Amino acid sequence: MNSIAVCFVCLGNICRSPSAEAVMRDLVEEAKLSDRIIIDSAGTGDWHIGHPPDERAQRAAKKRGYDLSPLRGRQIKAEDFARFDLLIVMDDKNVAALTAVCPPEHRDKIRLLMEFATRDDSRVVIDPYFGDDDGFERVLDQCEDACEGLLAALRTQLVS
Ligand code: 4NP
Repeated sequence: MNSIAVCFVCLGNICRSPSAEAVMRDLVEEAKLSDRIIIDSAGTGDWHIGHPPDERAQRAAKKRGYDLSPLRGRQIKAEDFARFDLLIVMDDKNVAALTAVCPPEHRDKIRLLMEFATRDDSRVVIDPYFGDDDGFERVLDQCEDACEGLLAALRTQLVS
């Protein structure tokens, strides 16, 4: 039996990646795969280390039954590149920032979350930080869509 470790990565680790982490955790729990699919999140920046998720993200998530309150911001660190099988990022700035610090042998682990979406054809998860509450709803819509596709892709890689 194998397991797969996935880290969602955005800029601050207070809006998009904690939202994706919570959505994916619920899907994986529902699929009874929590012992096989390990989930975490991180930011490429260091501004929000130790901070809880943005209150707007927490509020929007809570309305859909996701609890972001236990999560705390952290910055991606060197050992994460070996520890995780996939580093799932939100936008092209995250790809660039992560690639700059990722050892070459692990660069193929970096993938855009929206590659896995089946309904929304946006290439990236929008950055809601400087916008209004609607942006946080859109982020959750995007995460729900793409995480369903991600779970389907991961199932094909799990061997019994
Ligand atoms: P996130 O959103 O990358 O989805 O967590 C942001 C959080 C903080 C900032 C920008 C985006 N910031 O500029 O501090």
